[in-house]
Amino acid sequence: MHQMLPTLVKPHSRYRDSFLATLKETQIDDPNWVKILLRQVDPADVKKDFAAYCQLLNSYADGQNLPPGYVADTILWLAEGDQFIGQASIRHRLTEYLRSYGGHIGYFIRPSMRRRGYGNLILALAIEEAKKLGINPILVTCDASNLASKKVIENNGGVFENALPQESLPDKLRYWFYY
Ligand SMILES: CC(C)(COP(=O)(O)OP(=O)(O)OC[C@H]1O[C@@H](n2cnc3c(N)ncnc32)[C@H](O)[C@@H]1OP(=O)(O)O)[C@@H](O)C(=O)NCCC(=O)NCCS
Repeated sequence: MHQMLPTLVKPHSRYRDSFLATLKETQIDDPNWVKILLRQVDPADVKKDFAAYCQLLNSYADGQNLPPGYVADTILWLAEGDQFIGQASIRHRLTEYLRSYGGHIGYFIRPSMRRRGYGNLILALAIEEAKKLGINPILVTCDASNLASKKVIENNGGVFENALPQESLPDKLRYWFYY
């Protein structure tokens, strides 16, 4: 038995094929998330020079090349072998917007790999990374309608603070992790 648990890794060219397959899938199954995942980057550019895309993601941790209004964040991929499974984003500090709505940690699991426990796992691992960055307490949020994300947060022990109303959107649920 050589089965290994997926781990969080830095974006790297070895995940190119599975990341591009994920993008295709996401465009069909969960199109709103393509933009969130890639931020301002054009999918065609990601495909054209994947190594440069990985380099760009890795530079965000140093506060470089970020879209306006974004704080430094560490982007990590949940991967097993050469397979991209998901992405976590760990923001190093909160802006006013992040304190209300975005939180410290965002996560995404490849659509075809959902409902296998990877959502629970990626947040558990991202919390460990946030701890290494000295973030305490850690804020994680989700829309009240996002039942999967709500479960992921509660399964990991998030302490509910409140629900903030959003204009023409579901309430934003805010949870803290203390350690
Ligand atoms: C939220 C997300 C990461 C969950 O990933 P996942 O791999 O399906 O999560 P898991 O398999 O670990 O499931 C987590 C829990 O949610 C439940 N769940 C999963 N999908 C669900 C759904 N569509 N409806 C209700 N519950 C759901 C599971 O039963 C599980 O609960 P349990 O462990 O108590 O049984 C994934 O749906 C996703 O990437 N969504 C788009 C991005 C997003 O919304 N990110 C969060 C906002 S920052």
